[in-house]
Amino acid sequence: MAQSSRGIEESLTEAALARLANDTDARFRQIIGALIRHVHAFVREVELTEEEWFEGIKFLTATGQKCDERRQEFILLSDVLGVSMLVDAINHRRQTGATENTVLGPFFVHGAKEIANGDDMAAGWPGEPTHVSGQVVDTAGKPIAGAHLEIWQSDDDGHYDVQLPTFAERQLRAKLRTDGEGRFAFRTIKPSSYPVPVDGPVGLILDRMGRHPMRPAHIHFIVSAPGYETCVTHLFVKGDDYLGSDAVFGVKESLIVDFVRNESEAEAKKLGVKAPFYTASYDFVLQPADAGKQQAVRAASDAVKA
Ligand code: BEZ
Ligand code: FE
Repeated sequence: MAQSSRGIEESLTEAALARLANDTDARFRQIIGALIRHVHAFVREVELTEEEWFEGIKFLTATGQKCDERRQEFILLSDVLGVSMLVDAINHRRQTGATENTVLGPFFVHGAKEIANGDDMAAGWPGEPTHVSGQVVDTAGKPIAGAHLEIWQSDDDGHYDVQLPTFAERQLRAKLRTDGEGRFAFRTIKPSSYPVPVDGPVGLILDRMGRHPMRPAHIHFIVSAPGYETCVTHLFVKGDDYLGSDAVFGVKESLIVDFVRNESEAEAKKLGVKAPFYTASYDFVLQPADAGKQQAVRAASDAVKA
């Protein structure tokens, strides 16, 4: 029997849930069921107008249209709404003293060059010379030889190579392996704070929320080794103005590192940098892998592949 619009308003959620087939995948049922309940509750709570509903449709359409192999506006949207960090927190509850995860972000790409320990990842890129070093160890402090580090950062203007016309050259990114004692070292430039891309729908929504788009200066790392949980993280520069208001909620106290200024010509020579330079040191701690729960690391390009 046909229902009045008042009746539909009250019963539609149950009706939509009741249409879910019983033999569909249980986890999918749980996710889509919760999505229906929460979206309906949201529409009821704000009494969404038709104009607002269509604004939402236009916003999501524009977000999709902004995506390609090098730009992932949906990941950016998830990041600025705090959804990415919530997913990360739920999936990486590290209670073992292991290095904390943080957001992967949209600028990881496959195909970085392999460099040797001590090499320069910036290869002549302008900026303040910086030497980063440390060790990869397990939760008992045992060094992990041959651990794999994937490293990327923005340039001194706050752009990642994927945002530049010269992208094919893969700049300011590298792959590195720890030596027999679990040690790693590389040269680069000191990262600076930068805005997340604001020339798309996410920029508009940040503006409407009255929020700045800045991320505190950081270097990205993915640290992995067989038998250990992959750690996707950043090292943040201590003292940065935006540590307390990161646009994507990614800062964790344990990931803030002192980048120490050094003016010694002799020490610069030893490290193969020009004075004045900065040094940063950090030990990554990996915990044993939870079987079957390894994090897949995906680039923007992976989202547009069939
Ligand atoms: C990044 O750090 O590369 C990043 C993370 C989230 C959104 C935008 C950029
Ligand atoms: Fe970044």
